[in-house]
Amino acid sequence: MTINIGISQSHREYARDLLFKILSDYYILMIKTQNYHWNARGPHFHSYHQMLELQYNDLAQGVDLLAERIRSLGFHVPANYKNFMTHATLQEEMREPATEDMLKNLTHDHEYLIRETREAINKLKETGDENTLDLLVERLSLHEKTAWMLRSLNSHDS
Ligand SMILES: [Fe+2]
Repeated sequence: MTINIGISQSHREYARDLLFKILSDYYILMIKTQNYHWNARGPHFHSYHQMLELQYNDLAQGVDLLAERIRSLGFHVPANYKNFMTHATLQEEMREPATEDMLKNLTHDHEYLIRETREAINKLKETGDENTLDLLVERLSLHEKTAWMLRSLNSHDS
């Protein structure tokens, strides 16, 4: 059945592509956050372990919301790791970083997602797709908060 929701095909395709790109980066960051949840060490282990669990749960929730938005726009969600790896910009963790480097890596990744999400919002502003914009603004707020919390754990940073 043809979709008729007042957003042109090209605008919906544009939103789908931006959403899927962010979704792919989420998968990379989600497994990296789980990796650090399991492998963090040191006197702050318990608080890092718990904080990182909240973060990967938030990313999992974001994945679901992004994918369901793609469906609402009338498209298939091509969810498989091959596609995620092809579309993502963020890099998987292949090493065994020190715990303080884990926090820095996550800060950089959340800051990347902030820039990527802000760019997507700017690109979609004129398309009249308020629901996608709402979702992205909500995601932007969450990443900014997470990046602030991660930065605050390094007392040398602002
Ligand atoms: Fe766990």
